[in-house]
Amino acid sequence: TRIFISRDSTALSLGANQVAEALQQAADSKGLDVELVRNGSRGLFWLEPMIEVETAQGRVAYGPVQSQDVVELVEAGMLEGKEHALFLGDIEALPYFKDQSRLTFARVGITDPVSLDDYLAHEGYRGLKNALNMSAQDIVQQVTDSGLRGRGGAAFPTGIKWNTVLNAPAEQKYIVCNADEGDSGTFSDRMVMEGDPFVLIEGMTIAGLAVGATQGYIYLRVEYPHANVALNEAIANAYANGYLGDDILGSGKAFHLEVRLGAGAYICGEETSLLESLEGKRGLVRFKPPLPAIIGLFGKPTVVNNVVSLASVPIILDKGGDYYRDYGIGRSRGTLPLQLAGNIKYPGLFEAAFGLTLREILYDYGGGSASGRPIRAVQVGGPLGAYVPESQFDTPLDYEAFSAISAVVGHGGIVVHDDTVDMAAMARYAMEFCVEESCGKCTPCRIGSIRGVEVIDRIVKGIQKEQNTVLLEDLCDTMVNGSLCAMGGMTPYPVLSALKHFPEDFGLDKAVDA
Ligand code: NAI
Ligand code: SF4
Repeated sequence: TRIFISRDSTALSLGANQVAEALQQAADSKGLDVELVRNGSRGLFWLEPMIEVETAQGRVAYGPVQSQDVVELVEAGMLEGKEHALFLGDIEALPYFKDQSRLTFARVGITDPVSLDDYLAHEGYRGLKNALNMSAQDIVQQVTDSGLRGRGGAAFPTGIKWNTVLNAPAEQKYIVCNADEGDSGTFSDRMVMEGDPFVLIEGMTIAGLAVGATQGYIYLRVEYPHANVALNEAIANAYANGYLGDDILGSGKAFHLEVRLGAGAYICGEETSLLESLEGKRGLVRFKPPLPAIIGLFGKPTVVNNVVSLASVPIILDKGGDYYRDYGIGRSRGTLPLQLAGNIKYPGLFEAAFGLTLREILYDYGGGSASGRPIRAVQVGGPLGAYVPESQFDTPLDYEAFSAISAVVGHGGIVVHDDTVDMAAMARYAMEFCVEESCGKCTPCRIGSIRGVEVIDRIVKGIQKEQNTVLLEDLCDTMVNGSLCAMGGMTPYPVLSALKHFPEDFGLDKAVDA
């Protein structure tokens, strides 16, 4: 019997390894024939650690399972898919799963992440095989037609970025994957790398063919040790089978790939300081222009894309740009893997076409708050994202609709707070975070954030409230307009949104026009 237990970090932190050990022991002692596959997570975290069993009727799941439940489950007939209090049935039939559009995450939680055979058996490498028979211009055109925009947060059209690199003349070009996923409440990059590393490798190889780059680097945050293991195992398998190297699948085209580890700085997720770090220097932000697309890694034209952007490329090259473009609304095409975190009943990953409203996401799928209290505010797009109040929960998930309410979709992380949250404390935290993580290159961010903490403290203490509120707004204005990168430039988003929508938490009686 094939049994699946996740090797995803979230499942591991909830005890998946202990469950796997207990199962192996139970099987050994009873002489049962069990093949244990350590897959990625389906993303329904409240049900992890989950055991899935391959039965004659298909895969059925049990969860959340603790190691002490295992013997009882085996005795109750789990290996034959029998009912039990922890029986969940077919995971794909649950609304949380069924209502998703799993394009980028099609295989995550289903296959053995590091098995090339499994990847090939589940439509893997079909995009690369198409790309090998296409011109570079045609590959870029498919990506442009798909409407894919950078999933790291900035939403810049991927096809246009690739076109800039394609048209930049150079002997050597690079593909750099930004895997320094640092936003609070985000984990979609990690889940791809742990749960389906081949899809990222395939996407980067296609990017290499598209722009004429023969070397790729995955800049991975050191805090993701399990992703590091999975990626390196998958890369070795790809090399061993001709999917990476000097002559990819006998095409005469070359692409090489390596993982490089960061050292824990949030700012190294900003593309230019990431490049500095990759070159072995301190992670300081570079001036733009020149864009990395023109002068990037080691001074050469470089595609810098986020994990999910690159992992969305194989399905585009497999099924065509139009197929991907058919999902979504307005100028936000395709799907976004949403990450539900914080005070939410059903935390996890939910890949959906753009267009769902926040309310649908939070209540229909997220099940409301975990505490059962009303949801008061959600922060979308990481620590630099605005706080969205309940009155704006009907905003559809769409880059332009969010921008119209001075918020950002960012990397798709949604952190939920109930009505016990202190929004002045959250605003202070945003400034504190900037103090900690500023690279120090420019004054509005390096000094402004320290002054920001002090001014918020004075407002909350009731010291010259009106004057200090004006000062805080002024300071935020300087940070937005005077900072070199998004760190200082976006820290005011959470601060000003908290001030605007929750003035009472600052001891102010009327809304501030921020
Ligand atoms: P940006 O708007 O300056 O650039 C976006 C991308 O487009 C860059 O790669 C840039 O080089 C490229 N680009 C712009 N014009 C181009 C052209 N004509 N040709 C080719 N390429 C071009 O934004 P930035 O500073 O790179 O990113 C800011 C975003 O990062 C924020 O919106 C935030 O949401 C997000 N972010 C994400 C984090 C995460 O953990 N995923 C952490 C912190 C911030
Ligand atoms: Fe560095 Fe902050 Fe300036 Fe960005 S805004 S360059 S992090 S000091």
